[in-house]
This record gives sequence, structure tokens and C-alpha cells, in this order.
Amino acid sequence: MLESNITEKSLKELTESYYSIDSLANYIDIYRISKEDPVDFWNTIAERNFSWRKKWDNVLNWNKEEATVKWFEGAKLNITENCIDRHLATKGNQTAIIWEPNDPSEEAQHITYNELSSRVNKMANVLKNNGIKKGDRVCVYLPMIPELAVTVLACARIGAIHSVVFAGFSATALASRINDSECKILIAADGSYRGAKKLNLKSIVDEALEECPSIETVIVFNRVNLDIDMKAGRDRWLDKELSYVDDVCEAEEMDAEDELFILYTSGSTGKPKGMVHTTAGYMVYSAFSFKNVFQYKDNDIYWCTADIGWITGHSYIVYGPLLNGATTVMFEGVPSYPDYGRFWEIIEKYKVNQFYTAPTAIRALANHDIAFVNKYDLSSLKVLGSVGEPINEEAWNWYNDNIGKKKSPIVDTWWQTETGGIMISPIPFVTPTKPTFATLPLPGIQPTLLDSDGNEIEGNGCSGRLCIKYPWPSIARTVYGDHQRYKDTYFSAFEGMYFTGDGALRDEVGYYRITGRVDDVVIVSGHNLGTAPIENAINEHPAVAESAVIGFPHDIKGNALAGFVILKDESRDHDNLQKEINAIISSQIGPIAKLDRIHFVSGLPKTRSGKIMRRILRKVSSNEMENLGDTSTLLDPTIVDEVITEVKAVL
Ligand code: WTA
Repeated sequence: MLESNITEKSLKELTESYYSIDSLANYIDIYRISKEDPVDFWNTIAERNFSWRKKWDNVLNWNKEEATVKWFEGAKLNITENCIDRHLATKGNQTAIIWEPNDPSEEAQHITYNELSSRVNKMANVLKNNGIKKGDRVCVYLPMIPELAVTVLACARIGAIHSVVFAGFSATALASRINDSECKILIAADGSYRGAKKLNLKSIVDEALEECPSIETVIVFNRVNLDIDMKAGRDRWLDKELSYVDDVCEAEEMDAEDELFILYTSGSTGKPKGMVHTTAGYMVYSAFSFKNVFQYKDNDIYWCTADIGWITGHSYIVYGPLLNGATTVMFEGVPSYPDYGRFWEIIEKYKVNQFYTAPTAIRALANHDIAFVNKYDLSSLKVLGSVGEPINEEAWNWYNDNIGKKKSPIVDTWWQTETGGIMISPIPFVTPTKPTFATLPLPGIQPTLLDSDGNEIEGNGCSGRLCIKYPWPSIARTVYGDHQRYKDTYFSAFEGMYFTGDGALRDEVGYYRITGRVDDVVIVSGHNLGTAPIENAINEHPAVAESAVIGFPHDIKGNALAGFVILKDESRDHDNLQKEINAIISSQIGPIAKLDRIHFVSGLPKTRSGKIMRRILRKVSSNEMENLGDTSTLLDPTIVDEVITEVKAVL
């Protein structure tokens, strides 16, 4: 705890500077304090910057053996009181959410904190009227419309656990996520707009729900006016439900460690992995990281282009910004519609100050005429962000030169669904940036690199597997319904440490650069895709005997997927088979998981114990034929030549 003779003023200065880092010296100091005494550090931040109904009894309870972490045990709160209610007295009429529709000719919405409060309370009452109570799981399958943010907050208001499923996922993927956490209700829309296209979401919902016994009710928002089927007794229109309720809903009192949400991420098996985030720790860290990484100041306009179906949208469209009383832009559309100037048009229109997007979008936009950029006034920008995958130097420079005009620092933010918030990132105007480097950990975060024997690598100028040595408040607590899987995935590779699944290097000054996944997850256009579920989908094709999926470098997407497929039936036409295989993948997972290349081979490079050497397939597909390593341990080394011939045919 702080010294008792400290004055109120110096206490205030100290704690405000903990929460808001404003110089490199200040960062170095705060980082040191956070490392020396993390418990006191987080205690101070939590105490000074949030509204609690009851304070905690214990800051951190960490059991290494069991891989359990609890923060702020004993505290009582509701996160929506922190996101909304506490701002109403001073910021009731300030815009909380600016919603920009897909089509620029449709009217935008400017939702003030007062209006947000009223909409969230109404939605919370709709959930209650439909039998939802604290602890129930609510599946949310909505496009990027205000109702999505409102529903998420409404769940938090009544203590229901939200499980948002990205509205680009297929019926099979939606069903498996609903079933894994036995959601009771589904909030969906009739359809969605995506550029010039109108997609039917309700038909996907209907197909999914044939397999989902736990869902009792579906609430449907009419977004695109599709003529859809409404199943009697199960499906209800949101507008009608809203007409029955008022806008007062007392917030449920939550324990610090009560579950706030589940969000599914890819794993090394086909089963969805529901990462569980809890209330207080997630709140403290998403707020703290947002404030510092974007250097958000009152009245700034902040825009993150992610979808709320991913963790980036949870932490940095909804919770982090609203916890800080910010104005956050929510965009329904795509960067290419009506044309490739859409992002820049929105920045000019709202005078956006902080802009946060993904390398894949930057690369795609950099490929088009620079006139799309130069048409717009981007002078409001102060900070540019990047997330989701490594940003290559060319994209970094293009972003820096053309969007930031060399005056807006780029924050290359490394983090994961599992970490809940940004872990390694420059702090703009504080940390000198370096292209392709995520640079330094935020205070409270203790990264380390390990060699393959599990030894920590000392000093700088090295590379290894990225682990985190000490818990932070927003670490995911478990995999829903499967704590053993959580332990096995994150806490068994290296003793007592959280293993990220990423490789990284540390340069001479100690800056980190994330080099990519070292497991069976491939990041395609910023989306995490496990290779196992894709292989399972391919293997469902009756003509397929076995398959292996790997990622290879792609100019725009970062990585693309290639499948190596052994057929049972060699007589089938390969072109048709490729289409059929991609159709299965699309329907089981979603179009984002489609393969760019499919090679039909007579065998796969396997070890004598039967393990597929994906490393060899990866190298060949990346055109690194000379550098295949030792292939002598393979069961049948001649397979490698066949693989090389097949891949060369498409290079
Ligand atoms: C990758 C997204 C390099 C990484 C927030 C991580 C990155 C995975 C970066 C998590 C970055 C994310 N540089 N790689 N700045 N940010 N990644 O769970 O491999 O969708 O493990 O969370 O994305 O993806 P997820």
C-alpha cells in the first residue's frame, strides 16, 4: 500500500499518472513499479478509476498448480455502471457511439450516453421479459449495428453472459458455439448489408437451431427487410419486444469474478474453445490499456474498424472506450464500398483522432489508387493503430506516410482473445516506434522468451517462444466447461507461465517483434483459424481419405491456406472437387476459411509415428524448397518430391 504520510495531492498525481502515462521517463518508472509490486499497482489503479459497490478483500489470488487466477475477489460492481451510469452526470449529452451505416446515403446515428443508457436498459428488460437472468448464456449473432453493442451491454447489465458469434460464421459454426455453452436465447437479425450485398442471416440461424436444443427464444431485429420465416412460439421481433418495456433496469450486483462473456477462438482441435472473461479484471485492464495505447483525451473521436464479433471489438469498440467516457465509432460496412476511399471518407466526416485497423485492410487499401486517400482531409488523426497479425514493413511505411503523414505514431498492438487487452504496444508520443515492432510491454505485463527446452532467454538480440510470467487482470480465466484444456493449452508448455502460442524476437534495445504462430493456428486476414477444424471439414467429403492444411505467405491476407488432400477415389474431376471441398469448408466454418490452393497428393509427409510434418508442407508452399530440414526421419521421404512438384505447378 501507499505510504501513509503521502499527501492527497501527491497521491492524486501519482495515481493519475499510473493511469495515464505521458512520457518515456514516466513509463519506465511506472513499469518498474508495476513489476516490483504488481498487486499494489493494480490495487491503486482499480481503486482510483472505477466505481465499485463494494471494495475487494484481496487483489490477486493466483494458484499456479491449478492455473486459476482471481482478481479483486470480494468486490461488487456492475460494469455497465462504469461504462454508462457514472458518465451521465457530466457526459449525458455527449455522443457515446457514432454508428456509420454500410451505405453512406443512409443516416448515421449519434447515440449519446443518455440514449445509450435508455437503449441498454430497455434491451435488458427485453431479456428479462424473455426469462433471462444472471448467469444465463446469451448468444448474439448480429451485424455491426448499434443493437449489437446495446445487446452486449444489456447482458452485462443483468449479469447474463454474452457469447457473440461473428455474423460471418456458418450455421455449423454457430450451432457448435451455442451448444458448447448451452445458450438459452439467441439475438439475431434478419440479414445484413455487406457492401453491395444483402446477406440472409436468419436462414443461417434457422439451419443452426435445428441442432440447438438449449435455445428457447430467438429475438430478431429487422435490419434489411427480408421476407423471413418466423417460427411460432420461438421467434420474436425485437421492435415488438421493445414496445412492452420501459427504460429503467436496475443493474445486477456482480462479483468481481462473475463471468462477463465467452468468446470463441480457434484451437488445435475441432471443438470450439470458449474463452471466459470475468467482470472486474477485464474492466480494469480494458479501460487502462485503451486510455494509454490510444492516448485518448476528452472529446476525441476514436474509431476501431474491427467487428464486435472478435475480441478487438469487445475491448476496443465497446468496453475500453465506454469505460473511459469516449466517443467510439462503429462502422457497419467494408473498406471497399462504395469505393476504396470509404475509411478515409469516414475519418474526414467525423474528424477521427485515433484510428485502429488491421494490416490486411492496410495492405488491401495500399493496393489501390492513392487518389482514394488524397481526396480526403485526414488532418484530425493523432494516433494510428494496427492489430491482429504482424504488420510488414511495406504496409507500416504506407500507413505512416500516407495516412499518418509521418506525424501520427503507429501503435502496433500485440494481444489475443485470451489476454483480453493489449499487452505489447508502443504508447504514442512516449515510446519511439520502429516499423514491424510491437515494442514494449504495457505496465503490469511481464513478457519473456523461452527456448525449446523451456529455459528463459536472458539479454537482448534473441528470439524464442513468447510467454507471460505474471498474471494480469484481464487474462481469460478458463475455457468454458473445460478447465483442463485451458491448463493444457496455456500453462503446460512452460511451467508456471502463460504460453501465447506466438514466436517473437527481442532486438538489441529490448523491443519485441511478434514473428507469428508457432502452433497450428493460421492468421488469415487477421482472423485466427485452426487448421484442425478445416481438416475435419475437408475429410467429410466422401472422396477424401485424409488432408493437411497449412498457411503460406500472401501479399494481402498475410497468410492464405493450402490444403493437401489424399483421395479415396482418384477418378474424380479435380476442378469440381476443389469447389466441393471449399463449399464444405464454407458451410462448416465460413467463407473466411476457404483454401486458396488445393493439391491432390498420393501421400503426406509423415513421421514414423504417423505425425504429419506440416513444417515441410509450409516450407514448400512458401517456396522455400531448399530449406526443408531433415526429411530422413519421414516414413516415406519420396512424398516430399511429389509435394514439391504439385506446389511448383501453381507457383
Ligand atoms: C496475432 C486479436 C503480430 C498473434 C487481438 C496472436 C499479432 C493472435 C498482433 C491473436 C500484432 C495479434 N503483431 N501478431 N500486433 N496482434 N496478433 O485472438 O498471432 O484474434 O496470437 O486476438 O493474433 O488473435 P486474436
